[in-house]
Amino acid sequence: MMQARAVVGIVGALMLAACTSEGPPPSAQENYAPHEPQKAYLYYCGGCHAAPQSGSRVASEWPAIVSRMQQRRIATRIGPIPPEQLRMILDYLQHNAADARDPA
Ligand code: HEC
Repeated sequence: MMQARAVVGIVGALMLAACTSEGPPPSAQENYAPHEPQKAYLYYCGGCHAAPQSGSRVASEWPAIVSRMQQRRIATRIGPIPPEQLRMILDYLQHNAADARDPA
């Protein structure tokens, strides 16, 4: 019984070692931030629910929604959207909103 436990312990330790030696360190993954508006939008707004269509709201509605969702990200400890991506997302939503004159 004792021996079996020791073996499991060793295998577990080896698996952990294998995981930590592959790929970028966790900190690098946490810092991943898409730099294209649509990717940023799907990445930051598509995690809890399907990212809604930009054209489902008028431009003036998006700022309040985006800041409420930012609060939800903070409250649930997913982490806030970085300032650059937040601007990008709001810009994207407003330029493609239901009342956008010149959708990109
Ligand atoms: C932490 C999870 C989470 C993330 C991330 C998130 N949402 Fe939401 N979203 C919710 C929840 C919960 C609701 C329903 C309650 C509410 O409306 O606040 C919701 C509702 C909505 C609604 C419908 C409500 C309304 O007032 O029209 C829209 C639109 C929306 N989210 C857009 C977004 C956008 C845009 C982003 C990215 C900036 C985003 N969500 C990111 C959790 C999230």
